Amino acid sequence: AMIDKGNHRHFMLKEIYEQPVVVAQTLRSYIRPLEEQVALPDMDFDLSSIERVVIIACGTASYVGMIGKYWIEQFARLPVEVDVASEYRYRDPVLLPNTLGVVVSQSGETADTLAALRHMKEAGVTTAGIINVPTSSMAREVDLLMPTHAGPEIGVASTKAFTCQLAVMAALAVNLARVKGKLDEVQEREIVHHLVEVPAAINEALAYDDAIADMADTIADARDVLYLGRGTDFPLALEGALKLKEISYIHAEGYASGEMKHGPIALIDDNVPLIVIAPSGPLFDKTVSNMQEAQARGAKVVLISDADGLAQAGEDAVATIEMPKVHPLIAPIVYAVPVQLLAYHVAVAKGTDVDQPRNLAKSVTVE
Ligand code: G6P
Repeated sequence: AMIDKGNHRHFMLKEIYEQPVVVAQTLRSYIRPLEEQVALPDMDFDLSSIERVVIIACGTASYVGMIGKYWIEQFARLPVEVDVASEYRYRDPVLLPNTLGVVVSQSGETADTLAALRHMKEAGVTTAGIINVPTSSMAREVDLLMPTHAGPEIGVASTKAFTCQLAVMAALAVNLARVKGKLDEVQEREIVHHLVEVPAAINEALAYDDAIADMADTIADARDVLYLGRGTDFPLALEGALKLKEISYIHAEGYASGEMKHGPIALIDDNVPLIVIAPSGPLFDKTVSNMQEAQARGAKVVLISDADGLAQAGEDAVATIEMPKVHPLIAPIVYAVPVQLLAYHVAVAKGTDVDQPRNLAKSVTVE
């Protein structure tokens, strides 16, 4: 069937708005509602024998890998290595026994990721894939296929595939934690409750679309934009910067908040918008103090936080974006929405070709 934009101006916006539905759809196939337990598809190997995880991907999918590292290490207490596929393949990586090699890919056809998967298979490692296109090469070649149910993604800049990949990554982390004996039933049930809340929280986040559109003009004139985040919001800062670069052609960089003073702070003046992704929680105060160091040097801060966080630190920001109050586990999935919308509206303000940005391809099947 022909896919159209419906009432939306661009596929990207349509796909951003599909997220509550497609994330719910994806989560549904990874959660047993009665047991309130996470469930992976059947596999013909013993997941409990896994002792380490290597996650390989490109672009937006690689940030899912980085967030997965935080989750798998936190919950399953397994060491995780993450790399972009183009580097992984050529650095003669060390693959120890009992490794689970995970690839993350919307298309399942990205040349570098596919080659990394084949490399891992040749090394005798058990592989798994978080993949959106079920008929793709990667989907056929992995030992354990963990599908995302995002539906076809047309916009070149990935949006709904990203949040669906995160939902599956969370399920993988929880499942690994259970089989490794690091999570009891009560703890798992609590996590499942948080995951089940994600679609509604994404819906609430979408309600800030107009407010985000209103602030796009202030960013559209910038030459450089910096994104800051800590913990799982650090990869999200990278994703925010990538989205903005891809579709608005503004130079942008994501940084771990604590790295700010080791270089990027030299770039700060009153022409540089600083997008701070900081849900309230254990890391909030630290990120805020990094933000204030930049504000003292003139940075125009856009603070993305919840009501508690904005009440505490929103005062000196040039703009704030209020997110629902969510558990830190699911924050990167929910906070992806304002990050996507901000890039989208800045690109629209600049008049770029949002769905078909220059020089980019939806699926990169050559090296
Ligand atoms: C291209 C797309 C990105 C995507 C990357 C990886 O560069 O423009 O949006 O993140 O490929 O694609 P994959 O299909 O492997 O997720």
